[in-house]
Amino acid sequence: MKIEVTGTGPLEVDASVLAVPVFEGDAADPKGIFAEIDRRLGGHLASAATEEDFQGKTGQVLSIRTLGKLKASRVLLLGLGKREGAERVLPLAGFEPLRLAAGDAARLAQKGGATRLAFASPRLPGQTAHEARAIVEGALLGAYRFDRYKTEEKKKKPRLLESLVVALPPGLERSKEVKESVALARTVAQSVAWARDRVNEPPLHLTPSRLADAARELAKEAGLQVEVLGPREIAGLRMGMFLGVTRGSAEEPRLVKISWIPRGAAAKKAPVVIVGKAITFDSGGLSLKPTEGMVDMKTDMAGAAAAIAAMKVVAELAPPFPVHALVGACENMPGGRAYKPSDILIARNGKTVEITNTDAEGRLVLGDVLAWGVETLKPAMIVDLATLTGACIVALGMTTVGAFGPDGPAMDAVLAAARAAGEDTWRLPLTDSVKEELKSDVADLKNAGTRMGGSISAAWFLKEFVGDAPWVHLDIAGPSSTTKERGHVAKGGTGVGVRTLVELVRARIQEDSRPPRR
Ligand code: BES
Ligand code: MN
Ligand code: ZN
Repeated sequence: MKIEVTGTGPLEVDASVLAVPVFEGDAADPKGIFAEIDRRLGGHLASAATEEDFQGKTGQVLSIRTLGKLKASRVLLLGLGKREGAERVLPLAGFEPLRLAAGDAARLAQKGGATRLAFASPRLPGQTAHEARAIVEGALLGAYRFDRYKTEEKKKKPRLLESLVVALPPGLERSKEVKESVALARTVAQSVAWARDRVNEPPLHLTPSRLADAARELAKEAGLQVEVLGPREIAGLRMGMFLGVTRGSAEEPRLVKISWIPRGAAAKKAPVVIVGKAITFDSGGLSLKPTEGMVDMKTDMAGAAAAIAAMKVVAELAPPFPVHALVGACENMPGGRAYKPSDILIARNGKTVEITNTDAEGRLVLGDVLAWGVETLKPAMIVDLATLTGACIVALGMTTVGAFGPDGPAMDAVLAAARAAGEDTWRLPLTDSVKEELKSDVADLKNAGTRMGGSISAAWFLKEFVGDAPWVHLDIAGPSSTTKERGHVAKGGTGVGVRTLVELVRARIQEDSRPPRR
């Protein structure tokens, strides 16, 4: 999609659809651009808003035909919520309401066959660059669709949105800040779309080796280092848990490492390490899932998709410290050689694990990869993203990421990054009493506890493999995919986590460049 930024008044922009974000109350007491459009339409905008009960609440949308009275043939009003305090509330929310509004606008414009969309910025003082970023990210992602498996005649024909014009306050459209913001937004949206594509691919086409190929291609294009290891090398690393999970599958496992290493002395700094769960299909193994639970399990590699996709943005950000993404990819299948309940596996770090449920496979692969990352890379911070537990969905619902880990700067940084990114994330506790669930009679620990506190026992399991490293675990089982389209989120894979990781690295770059306090 072509992106233009302009200081021309939104009503003067040549576009078939004009999208206008509206705060609550603006319709009742028209001001600014709303009042201007209303006047041109002879009061029709305000009356339509009243009739349709459009108040400007977050997520509300109203579409109106302009019948030749404006350049645009259609005006889309998009609710942003309350105006009071918006200059404080919107930045705190990572401008997510605006990103969602831009997503709705792009999706609706595209569905209606429009090829050129103008979007008026809400013009909060001092926030122009942030607004531009949210609008561009939202619109690019709102226009996302995954239709590569539809045959030509079945493809929904409406044309693709070709250009987006972001209308900013005059004079600011040429600022360096805005230009950088728009460029970043474009890379971020491309990366989120890359993650969505991988999640949406059926498991027949996205096997562990194909995921590794895609990762290698992305890394090469971004100028990142990449290493892909196969079954013999994984065995050489004594990753007994990873090897256990992959046994039941006819597909070979892959261990992928993508690295950003800065030039000079900075290469020696302690790295940020990102680990993503990459079960390309989770049947449950011998603890087989029922069909209803299995049908979405091609998405069980969403953590890895986000980790890899974020590296593309990292390459662009070029931080003055190393960043690595580690991904252990395999299937969890019930083949004849499958690992079995009651098996005991020996982890990379020497711990022994009694298997009580082969469907608790993600933590096994992650445990080995986390231990390897901590041992070989001595990270300043290690963050994992995983579609780990159904229990996390029960706790937080479909749209919130669960964050686990000890108190400390790493946890603070991840929660702050999630906020800045507008990705809803809530911390859950590592409750001591739940750790008991993992006690085994025959090995150092069991791989699964009971249903009670299931996402907490899973997090405790991972903690056995990170030692004292500053570690944060993000359970993305809920928000990694969706059946409802909303704002910039399309049905299917969402690409959740990419934006949080990007903000995490950006904040660390800022910190790094700040002069040390005396
Ligand atoms: N991949 C699933 C978790 C999951 C469930 C992700 C639903 C997305 C949507 C994971 O491997 C799993 O099967 N977890 C089990 C753990 C249990 C066996 C201890 C679960 O949540 O039921
Ligand atoms: Mn499972
Ligand atoms: Zn799984």
